[in-house]
Amino acid sequence: MKTENTCPYCKGLGWISLKNGVKKCSCQYKNLTDSIYKRMNIPKKYQDKDFKNFLPNKKYKHHLIIKRLKDYVNLEEYKKGKGFFLVGNPGVGKTHLAVALLKELFLKKNIAGLFYDTNSLLFKLRASFDGVESSREILEEVINTPILVLDDLGSERLSDWAKDILHYIIINRYNDLKPMIITSNIKLKGKSEFEESLEERMGSSIASRLAEVCEILPVKGQDMRGSRLLELQEK
Ligand SMILES: Nc1ncnc2c1ncn2[C@@H]1O[C@H](COP(=O)(O)OP(=O)(O)OP(=O)(O)O)[C@@H](O)[C@H]1O
Ligand SMILES: [Mg+2]
Repeated sequence: MKTENTCPYCKGLGWISLKNGVKKCSCQYKNLTDSIYKRMNIPKKYQDKDFKNFLPNKKYKHHLIIKRLKDYVNLEEYKKGKGFFLVGNPGVGKTHLAVALLKELFLKKNIAGLFYDTNSLLFKLRASFDGVESSREILEEVINTPILVLDDLGSERLSDWAKDILHYIIINRYNDLKPMIITSNIKLKGKSEFEESLEERMGSSIASRLAEVCEILPVKGQDMRGSRLLELQEK
């Protein structure tokens, strides 16, 4: 049925007639992309993020971070179970970079990973115990996906239940040499009187494993969310 959103080129058929046959309409490729984003669970806000639209600031050595992430893909380091721990203050682009890496892996190596905001994953798993979707299925997907992004790990203190679940996921992936790309506002290890580390929030067995398989990439910069607000206020 023709609706307002029907493609003007193929009239919703998905195919365009040529002299000597048919070709797939470009609108079908967009749908394919949408379904891949859905499959990889990339949030709408970040679907257009990639390395090209991450504006590197020399002062913060962003070009080196981008080069490192691209090399990781080109050298296929993910095959050894290695990943990254992107750490830095809010708004500096950690999630943008993690999504850009997931997309690069898909486009260059045809690897479809999975993105999860850690708190949303825990929430989904908790809800699944009420029977909407089996928690076992969700956990299996998270444990088996070729690349897992755990966004915003350790953003708040965790309950024992949440710690157990995250232990289960991280230890299984670590044992199976499955890479993890982690973003966090807090450092992985160490103690200071100013901020808690992930080691203190989640325990040393997790921090020790993550330190072994995740290369720490400090992401520095301005809070880009903050600077946009400033721009609006100035007008
Ligand atoms: N260098 C950059 N170039 C272009 N856009 C950027 C850059 N840094 C951040 N942004 C944009 O700023 C917004 C915030 O970035 P992002 O969500 O990745 O921050 P974050 O480090 O993950 O923050 P949080 O710790 O709060 O999760 C996004 O829209 C992102 O695309
Ligand atoms: Mg983030």
